[in-house]
Amino acid sequence: MKSNIILIGFMGVGKGTTARAYARRYKCFNIDTDDLIESKENNKIKNIFAEDGEKYFRALEQECADWIESSVDNSLISCGGGFYNINNLKSLGTVILLDASYEWIYNRLSTAENSKAKLKKRPLFSEPKKAKKLYKEREKEYKKLADIVINVEKKDMQEIIKEINTKVN
Ligand code: S3P
Repeated sequence: MKSNIILIGFMGVGKGTTARAYARRYKCFNIDTDDLIESKENNKIKNIFAEDGEKYFRALEQECADWIESSVDNSLISCGGGFYNINNLKSLGTVILLDASYEWIYNRLSTAENSKAKLKKRPLFSEPKKAKKLYKEREKEYKKLADIVINVEKKDMQEIIKEINTKVN
């Protein structure tokens, strides 16, 4: 069993921010699946969606998962919101779901300092109605796959990363 920590959850729940805080505090490497895909393609996620389509992007997520499975251990991996759909998630490490209600997530994204940029880089968040539908469809799937569920709504970052660390060790 690999000792990676795999952070999954809906767009905007704070996977990237949590991963960076965790890596800094607990001194491990942190990689993000969207960043890996962007660097492999030398293109931004929103352009990959626009130019090559979602299907192409999902195939890149599987390629990325296969690389992590063959080559990465002892690291923290933050995943894009749809990454859970790859066929080998459970072989990558301990799967942790960062959980929050859709309303909390929407509020977090729309009140962030750089909220326009945060929303713009996420093609599937361009229409809040559709994003909410997607949230509803995925909610149960995330929970089914998670080894550990952490609700982030009423916690500050230090509490969240401490909880992750306690639960994986
Ligand atoms: C997606 C989430 C995004 C990114 C892409 C698709 C999704 O990542 O991978 O826009 O399907 O939920 P974040 O969860 O980091 O926003």
